[in-house]
Amino acid sequence: MNALRRFIGRLPKAELHIHIEGALEPGLAFEIGRRNGIALPYSSEAELEAAYDFESLQDFLRVYYELAQVLTEERDFYDLTYAYLARAHSQNVLHAEMFFDPQAHTGRGVPFAAVIEGISRARMDAARALGIRSLAIMCFLRDSTVADAMRTLEEALAYKDRIIAVGLDSAEAGNPPGKFKEVFERARGEGFRTVAHAGEEGPPDYVLEALTELHVARIDHGVRSMEDEALVQRLAEMKIPLTVCPLSNVKLGVVSEMKSHPLREMIEKGLFVTINSDDPAFFGGYVNENYEAVQEAFGFTARQLYGLARNSFEASFLEPSAKRALIARLDECATSNRGVLEGG
Ligand code: HPA
Ligand code: ZN
Repeated sequence: MNALRRFIGRLPKAELHIHIEGALEPGLAFEIGRRNGIALPYSSEAELEAAYDFESLQDFLRVYYELAQVLTEERDFYDLTYAYLARAHSQNVLHAEMFFDPQAHTGRGVPFAAVIEGISRARMDAARALGIRSLAIMCFLRDSTVADAMRTLEEALAYKDRIIAVGLDSAEAGNPPGKFKEVFERARGEGFRTVAHAGEEGPPDYVLEALTELHVARIDHGVRSMEDEALVQRLAEMKIPLTVCPLSNVKLGVVSEMKSHPLREMIEKGLFVTINSDDPAFFGGYVNENYEAVQEAFGFTARQLYGLARNSFEASFLEPSAKRALIARLDECATSNRGVLEGG
């Protein structure tokens, strides 16, 4: 293993864009399906994985929702969340902000309480046993109705203390952020922070709309912002963090290959970029594999990798004192790896 790869492994980092349902590994999906008496339309893990050859976001979402159907009990959400947090911890993720899609479950008759209680209990246990911090972000499905999103928000109010923010995900094209203006206004009024997926498959205008109509604190993906120079300047001036997911972008055809990803230009133009895994069980890697892939494609130095990890803490929703404590751990790592950092 080369020195930069080892450095990536040791680097303390935060992950800010991970869908918990997208961390459902084939083995766990079959195990949960078996115990719940829910059969997946695949005869084996290998056959399921063979379906992970996606052409588009829509193509991926079909399999993502299909697999999510095995999740019905509180225990399922617990096992899924704990497995992700343990894996993230093994990659030196000190803090994770995890999306969850309640409508993908409540729409099938699963109680909202089962989803949030399972996730919350796993977060607490992982914090105690492993020391990993985490927060939960509730996403609305943008291809569902505004009324359904509003109902979901109302259901979430009883669990306000366990949900830091609301977001927007699922099929982007044809579902502009402005559709959810009222829902986001209500959410902000209730004290939730806000984020939104924008500029993944949708146009740069959707990124602008997420800023001006939803007043989001971060943009998830945002890579297509690069098609609009004025928007790039605005994002840079406002220091809006973008949670970029490089392996996801390649897997879903947002870019044709890693070398054509605009990440380097995004950084050069002063955008506040972080590296994340999106749906790690489907896209070929967790957060470290994403750092490794961009290091390899763009020849990033240890100092640049340190900068990306630092951004992940700065862009998080942690309290300032917690941010400072985690950045201090990042800096300790930098000090003890001075040799690698001075090499470039
Ligand atoms: N984009 C939009 N919605 C999603 C994604 C994604 O990458 N993953 C899970 N839901
Ligand atoms: Zn995503």
